[in-house]
Amino acid sequence: MAKEKSIYSCQSCGYQSPKWMGKCPDCQSWNTLIEEKKEPELSVLETRTFDDIDTAPISITHIKSKDSDRITTHISELDRVLGGGLVHGSLVLVGGDPGIGKSTLVLQAFNAIAKKDIPVLYISGEESLEQTKLRADRLGAKSESLYLLSETLLEKVIKEAKKLKPKVLAIDSVQTLYTGELESAPGSISQVREVVARLMYLAKRENMTTVVIGHVTKEGALAGPRVLEHMVDTVLYFEGDGGKSYRILRAVKNRFGSTNEIGVFEMQEEGLIPVENPSELFLSERPLNAPGSVVVSAVEGTRPMLVELQALVTPTILALPRRTTIGVDHNRVSLLVAVLEKKAELALYNHDIYVNVAGGLRIQETGVDLGIIASVASSFLNRSIESQVLFLGEVGLTGEVRAINHIEVRAKEASRLGFKKCFLPMSNLRKMKTKVPLEFIGISTVDELIQILFR
Ligand SMILES: Nc1ncnc2c1ncn2[C@@H]1O[C@H](COP(=O)(O)OP(=O)(O)OP(=O)(O)O)[C@@H](O)[C@H]1O
Ligand SMILES: [Mg+2]
Repeated sequence: MAKEKSIYSCQSCGYQSPKWMGKCPDCQSWNTLIEEKKEPELSVLETRTFDDIDTAPISITHIKSKDSDRITTHISELDRVLGGGLVHGSLVLVGGDPGIGKSTLVLQAFNAIAKKDIPVLYISGEESLEQTKLRADRLGAKSESLYLLSETLLEKVIKEAKKLKPKVLAIDSVQTLYTGELESAPGSISQVREVVARLMYLAKRENMTTVVIGHVTKEGALAGPRVLEHMVDTVLYFEGDGGKSYRILRAVKNRFGSTNEIGVFEMQEEGLIPVENPSELFLSERPLNAPGSVVVSAVEGTRPMLVELQALVTPTILALPRRTTIGVDHNRVSLLVAVLEKKAELALYNHDIYVNVAGGLRIQETGVDLGIIASVASSFLNRSIESQVLFLGEVGLTGEVRAINHIEVRAKEASRLGFKKCFLPMSNLRKMKTKVPLEFIGISTVDELIQILFR
């Protein structure tokens, strides 16, 4: 009898090797090669006949554009991240940590769609129908057109989907589904890849919008091969601070919309509630007049958000002082600390510095540099900054304060929330056109800011 062949596949990138290796030569990750049975190469194409194909090239001018008919989920923050709703026949992957609320979000959205008499099918491979119903009761999901199925065999799922012909289909989660044609375990790389390929085919062919929930690994990447992200149309990540009740939905990839927009939700008993004014939420627990606490504005997509930055500067006996950051780039903070030392002559070299964005938001833009400078200096000097002050501006290596964009929307948001004063780059101040009821103070260098604030 022929010996059964096995193959080692990297669970992170899909690389395959006939022998085991500690490190994947393709994606360089360690301990990701897992033994799997060698499978015959399967693909969607082999499982169908070609008689039904009647496609021909067509001039672009003859194709009707139908952008308007997206399926809105009636959840404002989700629609915003999707770019206005679900596009017909698209495949959306939703990833996120365990227990963050993926199933809740999708079930809520599906219930809202079903309320408009659009048939939707929610397939759960993780929970029994009773368990899903338990959640649905809590969320108040009881639309006639919302169909549930608890199933893990892909072939059965596809059969039922073709029979019911729902407009939208949800798979919770892709790691629990398996095809009977492969012998590897559900959740393994070959299974996940094949399952998504077939779902993609179903979505495009039947014009059935499909939402697929995926687990994430310890490192925070979507479990399964990176190639998954290339196959699907949209990748959304659901993230949040474990202990906190709010969650942030971010588009990592979107073929039909911007990837800058984020959605903010609050997890409550009755489900995820969209937060229309995140600034108020992020500033709600701010301690007033505490040294090290300042307010900055981050623009995500088109929406400005005011967030609190906190710094703690403490003397240390460590030869290499600690620089710890949460929510802002570590290197960026090291750079700004060096600028403070050199240009404002603050002796930070024998101090540990911790910088945190309150509320668990991650800020990627440099427009908050001036705020980081102000909060570190404020904690170091143990002098508080008035609470109604906003800091805007990027800082360069020579200590110069550089212009940033969206200055007016940021200032307007601050004024709406009752802020009185705004420190901003001098070059931005010169170009300001609209009147915003704030006291603007133009700043050109870091040293100038420190002088105005603390001396
Ligand atoms: N009664 C409740 N009141 C408030 N929040 C609740 C309640 N029940 C559950 N939750 C919240 O819902 C979360 C679970 O949501 P959900 O099952 O949608 O997460 P998930 O991302 O699908 O998890 P998994 O990865 O395990 O499938 C819990 O972590 C909790 O925060
Ligand atoms: Mg779930």
